[in-house]
Formats: sequence, structure tokens, C-alpha cells
Amino acid sequence: MSSVFAPNLLAGQVALVTGGGSGIGAGIARTLAGQGARVALLGRTQAKLDAVAAEIRGAGGEALALPADVRDYAAVEASVSRAVETLGRLDIVVNGAAGNFLAPAASLSANGFRAVIDIDLCGTFNVSRAAFAQLAKARGSIVSITATQASVPTPLQCHAGAAKAGIEKLTRDLALEWARSGVRVNAVAPGPVEGTEGVRRLAPADADAAVRRRVPLGRFATIDEVSGAVLFLVSPAGAYMTGATILLDGGTSLLGPGPFLDMLGA
Ligand code: HXC
Repeated sequence: MSSVFAPNLLAGQVALVTGGGSGIGAGIARTLAGQGARVALLGRTQAKLDAVAAEIRGAGGEALALPADVRDYAAVEASVSRAVETLGRLDIVVNGAAGNFLAPAASLSANGFRAVIDIDLCGTFNVSRAAFAQLAKARGSIVSITATQASVPTPLQCHAGAAKAGIEKLTRDLALEWARSGVRVNAVAPGPVEGTEGVRRLAPADADAAVRRRVPLGRFATIDEVSGAVLFLVSPAGAYMTGATILLDGGTSLLGPGPFLDMLGA
């Protein structure tokens, strides 16, 4: 897809994208690379990272696969060091790694709740913390991908909603604490995004049409639209933005709780 942004907006910059092996993270990595950034892809599955890295290289970009689990601070720290050694610097961090499933709170195990908090919230802290010194050197920025579940009460999503709300609060705290170091910290909160693992897991085929119909703009977001919001935030156009969460949900949260209430027949 052609971009509305000036070409090579990110030439000379380096981006680290977690969850970069698939879905929204991979789309963001492609977009940043398409704007001239060299990208490091961090995720748990080497084969998925290799495939996205190969695609970016095939399109003339530079990409590095960094297999690691965002829950493991030592592995994250080693990956950040490797990205800087290999690609020379670090300007942009995108926290896209996430885990989720539908589960009623009354039967969700403590470990299930903790697993999602660990991946989403602790993972976002780990990567942001490990990258801070390099980002301060580059006067760079962080963008974390949250979700409307952070602010809209959503059945079967207490674990993910709490994790994403935590990321949005962390975004504001880090933005304040790191502003004088020149590091901006923002988030993007999408509703359902077409062609993602999230939609496959959270909006099964039988509920899909009802969830889709409920969106005021009449459709789900595209991965390119999420990537575009990230690109705006990390670009000079976003230079005065910090501590913000951009809501990208086609107007759905204007309606209040959902969209899963429809799906549950509640
Ligand atoms: C209930 C479940 C469950 C399910 C796992 N658990 N799946 N409980 N319903 N469907 C429980 C397990 O029983 C276990 O608890 C605990 O969670 C940890 O499970 P593991 O499989 O051991 O964990 P792990 O291998 O670390 O996997 C993490 C995961 C997994 C989150 C559970 O689904 C994953 O790796 N997902 C990554 C990909 C993903 O989810 N992508 C979608 C992102 S969508 P017990 O008690 O049995 O030990 C997304 C959209 C965001 O993020 C929008 C919403 C905010």
C-alpha cells in the first residue's frame, strides 16, 4: 500500500519491534522498514522472525531476528545489546508482544491470569527498561500496543484488560519520568484488527458478523492502519506527543461495554 508519509522518514534509524514475527508486530516492522529504518524483530519463535526478516530484506531493507521471551529480562537485555551491536543504535521500540485468550474470570486459573500480565505488562516494562539508556542516547521513543479492553469493561477479558490498562498507566508514568531524558513514550489502543491472531482467538467465525456490525465505522481496523498510527507517533509529526494513547477503534468504545457482550448474547 502506498504511504501518506514522506518516503524514507526513518532513514538512519533503528527500531526494535517485539511480537515482530506475526500479525500487528510484523506489520509495524514492515512499515518502519519501508520508511528506511533498520529493524530488529524480537519474539519467541525463530522461524516466524526469520520469515519476516527475509521478507524485509527481500524488499531492500535490513532486519535482524532476535529470538527471546519478553518475560525473561536477561534475554531481553541481551537482545537489546545485540540489536545495538549489529545495527549500531536504537531509536524506536515498539512493544507488540502479547498473549490472550477468552476465559471467564470465575474459572481462570491464577497462572493463566499471571501469564497474560507477565507477557503484556511485565514484558513491556522489561523491554522499555532494557532499551532506556540507548533510547536516551538517540532521543528516541517507545510505542506500546494496548487494546480497547484497557478502558472498556469486557467479559472474558479481565486478564488482558488489566494487563493493557497497566500498560497505558505505565506509558504515562514512563513518559513523565523519561521526558527530560528526551525519550517519548506513547501507546496505540486498537479495537479488533483484521487478519490477526487476536481476531482469530477473540471473535470466532460465528460471532464475527455481529462484532463487525457493531463497529460504528462498519469494519475492523487493518494492520496498516495500526502501523500508520505508530509511524505518526515515532515520526517528527509526533515530536510533542508523550504519555498519550491513540484510540483506534472505529468509534466502538463510544458505545460502551463490548463488543463481546453481543457475542455472548448478553
Ligand atoms: C483458560 C488458559 C487458556 C485458555 C492458557 N491458559 N490458555 N486458561 N483458557 N484458552 C492458561 C493455562 O492453563 C495455564 O494455566 C496458563 O494459562 C499459562 O498457559 P501456558 O500455555 O503454560 O503459557 P504460555 O506457554 O506461556 O502461553 C501464554 C499464552 C498463550 C498467553 C497462554 O496463549 C500464548 O503464548 N499466546 C501468544 C499468542 C497470542 O495469544 N496471541 C494473541 C494475542 S491477541 P495453568 O493454571 O493451567 O498452569 C491480543 C489481542 C489483544 O493480544 C486484545 C485484547 C487485550
